[in-house]
Amino acid sequence: MKVLVIGSGAREHALVWKLRQSPKVTKVFAAPGSDAIAGLAECVNIKATALNELATFARDNKIDLTVVGPEDPLVAGITDLFQRKHLRIYGPVQKAARLEGSKAWAKEVMSRHGIQTGGHKTYDTPQPAIEYLKNCDYPVVIKADGLAAGKGVTVCKTFEQAEAAVNEAMVKNRFGDAGRKVLIEDFLQGEEISVHAITDGHTILPLCLAQDHKAALDGDQGENTGGMGTYSPLPQINDDVMAQLERDIIVQTVHAMNREGVPFVGTLFAGCMLTRQGPKVLEYNVRFGDPETQSILMRLRGDLFEILSAAVDRKLENVTVDWDPRSVVTVVLASGGYPRDFEKGYKIKGLDSSFGPDVQVFHGGTKKVDGQWYTNGGRVLSVCALGSDLEDARRKAYAAVEKIHFDKMHFRKDIGWRGLKGAK
Ligand code: GLY
Repeated sequence: MKVLVIGSGAREHALVWKLRQSPKVTKVFAAPGSDAIAGLAECVNIKATALNELATFARDNKIDLTVVGPEDPLVAGITDLFQRKHLRIYGPVQKAARLEGSKAWAKEVMSRHGIQTGGHKTYDTPQPAIEYLKNCDYPVVIKADGLAAGKGVTVCKTFEQAEAAVNEAMVKNRFGDAGRKVLIEDFLQGEEISVHAITDGHTILPLCLAQDHKAALDGDQGENTGGMGTYSPLPQINDDVMAQLERDIIVQTVHAMNREGVPFVGTLFAGCMLTRQGPKVLEYNVRFGDPETQSILMRLRGDLFEILSAAVDRKLENVTVDWDPRSVVTVVLASGGYPRDFEKGYKIKGLDSSFGPDVQVFHGGTKKVDGQWYTNGGRVLSVCALGSDLEDARRKAYAAVEKIHFDKMHFRKDIGWRGLKGAK
């Protein structure tokens, strides 16, 4: 079977790595892929958003399954296009992808179907938003309605910060069209969990839980990023809470989408806050998380190709998954300055070190020139390690990180801190 993976980041590097392990997969292509992915797959120079070109490539090369990494092609309707051309593709159709493409629409769905989430207001001009901010309780969360590469969320402790965030989105257009509409949300206190499930619209296959670290700096300080590191499993989350997340959020959402007339087929990823009142949805994503996927796939025992194929064929009821009981920690090595401006082109040393069998390094933003790796993005590398428990996995991940260096390299040193605290 020939598989095409769309995207170029560390998540796609991990997807390619796992798909290649399937005995059914004879060849993997990646579009556009990356210099690192080229070590595992044939990269084709087509952008993830060039939907027609991707469909033509899939047809001409008789691709059996296309797997979409990032959200942009899904929100732009790649699945609808492929389906019209009778090409097999894994990911939700455009109307279902609105769960991520419009945070305001996702809130409407949750409110119509009684799915727990925080209170919010939506604004499409800045002045009424700023008037509301003058009298509300702080902190608040300001969110761009559309896609903003994980950077459209600002937690604001004061009116001044909130006003600046609204102006940045709606007046300075930091997020382009994605920030034309803005949500002002209640700040939810608690622990944030990434809940992933693969669904064919009927059967739901929950994936192992992961926890991301969104803030740029240790102690959850600094600006929000796309994610600075993950770990799995979460020793502080018991079976009751897991069952509640599955029943009250994932199953409810899949049913809600069916009732909305837009069945969801693909990866449903609910960012959830465990509040005193129970789990609440912060936001939905309609694809695998990055860097959650790196941790999840390190633990997945089984054939990813078979699982995704079964979802596309609406035959997920025939599939079971098994998880490596060990812990995994993923540490993201980022360029100094990320998520704001950062420089690229720094030499990366140490990638040829011997890391051992429990460590994988997935490339998010790198480039190879004359056999030498250079930085080429904000989130440069995801360093993943399996260990007998969370502490062991952390030790191995940070020992691997110690072997890698590039100028202005930045990473969080506390990945998994909530799990360590909860496990004691
Ligand atoms: N790590 C969060 C995301 O993928 O959106």
